[in-house]
Amino acid sequence: MNSRQGRFITFEGPDGSGKTAQLDILAEEFIQAGYPILRTREPGGTPISDQIRATLLDLKNTAMIDRTEALLYQAARAQLVEEVIKPQLARGGIVLSDRYADSTLAYQGYGHQNTVTSLEGIIHYATGGLVPDLTILLDLAPEVGLQRRLDAGGLNRLDAYDINFHHRVRDGYLKLAEADPGRWIVVDADRTFNVVQQDLRAILQENLDKWGY
Ligand code: TYD
Repeated sequence: MNSRQGRFITFEGPDGSGKTAQLDILAEEFIQAGYPILRTREPGGTPISDQIRATLLDLKNTAMIDRTEALLYQAARAQLVEEVIKPQLARGGIVLSDRYADSTLAYQGYGHQNTVTSLEGIIHYATGGLVPDLTILLDLAPEVGLQRRLDAGGLNRLDAYDINFHHRVRDGYLKLAEADPGRWIVVDADRTFNVVQQDLRAILQENLDKWGY
């Protein structure tokens, strides 16, 4: 029996904010240092969730309507929460997730302009009400993010939306962060990779210390 409470940290941000590459280094460093970290990502993270991810990102699925998309994200998430996140938290461990429920609010809610309260309902159903202890937003102007994405080569179905969509996503994220400053930390991602990495490392270390890891 482990009486320690686990901790759930999520990383959010627009496409091209460098989240994934930053997390590669950050997670590896803290795992090497001996912290009980499990890293995952959304959509995906379990065999079933990865199959749903492939459907969501498939460029051929142009007929997909908004509600289908929103529900598929929740289906992938429900499976991830039960199979991966909750067991790790029950062991007293730390979960670092590349995206989580706030991506649904930012993209399907603010981006696609679906009703945020309806989305909160299906998110609650999918997650059983599991909310992160800490959410780090890598904030970046959409123009910069899309350019980085183009430079890296290739676009997926979700990148194909127009720039206004990406502006709404960014503004949505900033609203979410502003509404819950106790949970969110906003990091300016329009700086060099190493400078952003230093910030992320300091934030993670500070919180792990605070939680007694
Ligand atoms: P991915 O290639 O993993 O992008 P990134 O590296 O930026 O995370 O694609 C994930 C895409 O899915 C991204 O465009 C955001 C989108 N998304 C949603 O629209 N809603 C969600 O709930 C989640 C988890 C992701």
